[in-house]
Amino acid sequence: MKQYNVAVVGATGAVGQTMLKVLEERDFPVGKILPLASARSQGQEVFFRGQALKVEEARPEAFAGIDLALFSAGKDTSLSLAPEAVKRGAVVVDNSNAFRMEPDVPLVVPEVNPEALKKHKGIIANPNCSTIQMVVVLKPLHDRARVKRVVVSTYQAVSGTGLEAIAELKTQTAEILEGKPIKPSVYPYQIAFNVLPHIDVFDETGYTLEEWKMVRETKKIMGDDSIAVTATTVRVPVFYGHSEAVNIETEEKLTPAEAREILAQAPGVVVVDDPAKLAYPLPVQVAGRNEVYVGRIREDFSIPKGLNMWIVADNVRKGAAFNAVQIAERLVQDGLL
Ligand code: A2P
Repeated sequence: MKQYNVAVVGATGAVGQTMLKVLEERDFPVGKILPLASARSQGQEVFFRGQALKVEEARPEAFAGIDLALFSAGKDTSLSLAPEAVKRGAVVVDNSNAFRMEPDVPLVVPEVNPEALKKHKGIIANPNCSTIQMVVVLKPLHDRARVKRVVVSTYQAVSGTGLEAIAELKTQTAEILEGKPIKPSVYPYQIAFNVLPHIDVFDETGYTLEEWKMVRETKKIMGDDSIAVTATTVRVPVFYGHSEAVNIETEEKLTPAEAREILAQAPGVVVVDDPAKLAYPLPVQVAGRNEVYVGRIREDFSIPKGLNMWIVADNVRKGAAFNAVQIAERLVQDGLL
């Protein structure tokens, strides 16, 4: 089997480290692996298949001989280095927001729109974490009953912000329990024992960029501009796992039992929905897993054709690293790498 030289850009970060782990778990046909990060991390060690590897500085020349580059080092790094990687012959799967809405950049969730990969011109965008887990569930329901409108509220883990945010939640929790004063730095306010209705930057509409990502990316991935989406995105003091309360209005009537049946067959979805047994998805249970979990599926009695549901996934895995590796696997499978 052909082997591929793979660079992981942001290899010291929360998503980058998980990318290395997922490449290993999935037995991706890796020839050489090249961990890249900022100059600050040069020489630091990361592990792949039991071997310690030295992190190198992400510079344009580093991509010579690389077939696949997985980026998770933020928008600025992607903007400056992804085109350099492509210029040197690599295919880039980019986890940042840099290229997602470019018309000729495929924005892909493999369970939903793998066919979009065929048109790639070197860069493929990995969608926003909250959007990924929502569309994996919406797509099979849309195919059956056409989703007209989505109202979503998210409960997002701090790991989505990165390693510094994970550290901030840990230390702040301990400091508060010890009665010590705290000094927020990653988030504008205390995150321990609090919820922040604010993810990414606000714009003049009063919405945040994270909320607009859910609106725009859902339409692009589902290939249907007519789906109305409105979102409220909220940061909660959870380490791993984004949760979402999702309300949908459909064109065709769908009962909760029908929705459960459709979702039980859907790729990448696990239905956990038995209120009598207190069975519903929880972030602490889905952390470390690759699937999207859905439960609390029930009728919205306020409208004729509506459902409510609760969707949970590991944001670092399905919301980022796992989806990126799935894209890479699909590229290999379809001869697009
Ligand atoms: P570094 O550790 O050298 O700062 P997280 O999302 O967990 O905060 O991780 C962000 C990742 O992006 C880290 O691996 C970080 O590397 C990397 N990174 C940040 N800035 C740059 C940059 N300018 N060039 C390359 N990698 C970067």
